[in-house]
Amino acid sequence: MQIITTKQDLQREVEACKSHGKSIGLVPTMGALHAGHASLVRRAVSENNVCVVSVFVNPTQFNNKEDLALYPRDLQRDAQLLESIGAHYVFAPSPEEMYTAEEMSGTFRFDFGGLDKVMEGKMRPGHFNGVVQVVSRLFYLVRPDRVYFGEKDFQQLAIIRFMVERSELAGTFGDLRIVGCPIVREESGLAMSSRNERLSEEEKATATAIYRTLRESMKWAKTQSVREVEKRVVDTINSVDGLETEYYEIVDKTTLLPTDTFSNAIGCVTVYCGKVRLIDNIQY
Ligand code: PAF
Repeated sequence: MQIITTKQDLQREVEACKSHGKSIGLVPTMGALHAGHASLVRRAVSENNVCVVSVFVNPTQFNNKEDLALYPRDLQRDAQLLESIGAHYVFAPSPEEMYTAEEMSGTFRFDFGGLDKVMEGKMRPGHFNGVVQVVSRLFYLVRPDRVYFGEKDFQQLAIIRFMVERSELAGTFGDLRIVGCPIVREESGLAMSSRNERLSEEEKATATAIYRTLRESMKWAKTQSVREVEKRVVDTINSVDGLETEYYEIVDKTTLLPTDTFSNAIGCVTVYCGKVRLIDNIQY
C-alpha cells in the first residue's frame, strides 16, 4: 500500500492503473477509521482492481471551528488498518494541497435542487457545499469506477447521487457509480462513527437509547401518524439523561422532503450526547 500526499502523485498513479485497464474503487473518508469504514473498503477492494482511500479532514465542510479542531486524527493507525484490509493507495493531502486560499474561504456554491434545505443542511449552513467541493475534486482526481459511502449520512449520500445524476455536474465524472452501504453498528446498536471516540464509556451506554428508540418507532408507526411518531421519538430520546435531540424528521427517501406516509420513508435523527453530535437513521 502506498501513501500519497500530492494531487500530482495521485494522478500519476491513477493514470498508470487506467492505462493497464484496471478498475478503481474510491472510499472518501475523514480518517479516524472504524469498522464502518472498513466495510466500505472491503467492498471496494472486492469489486475493483484497485482501491483508493482518501483520508482528509475537510475544513470547508465544518461550520463549527471547535468541531474541526476536535475531529480525531491518526493517520498512522488508519494506514495500518487500511493496509491490513487490502487498500492499495491512501491519499492524505494537506488542506493547502487540496485548496487555494480562496477555495478554503468557502467561495464554492452548488445548487442542490433543494436537498440541502432540510435536516443537516438547515442545521449546518454551508456543510454540504464543503462536502460537494471535496468530493467532486476527489472524483476529478481519481476518476473512479465506483465510489462507496455509508448510509448513516443518508442526506450526504442523496446529495452526492444528485450531484452525479441530476445536477449541472452530471456526466462530467464518466460512468461513475455511487454505492450506498448499510450502517455498521456496535453490538449495542450504536451506529459506528468517528465521533464515538469522543464519548466516555458511560456516554456510549447512554447513546444506545438513540437506536433503541428508532427501532421502537417501527412499532409505533403501525398505529400512529408520522407527526405523532416524530414527536414520540424526540420525547423518548430527550427523556434520557445526557441526550438532547436536535431534530428527528421522517422524510421521503428520494426528495428528503417531509412526508405524511411511512412508505418510502426514512427517519433521520441528530442527537447531542454531552458535547458530541451523533446522527443515525431508520428506514420504515
Ligand atoms: O462522510 C465523510 O466522512 C465526509 O463527509 C466525506 C464524504 C469524506 C467528505 O469529506
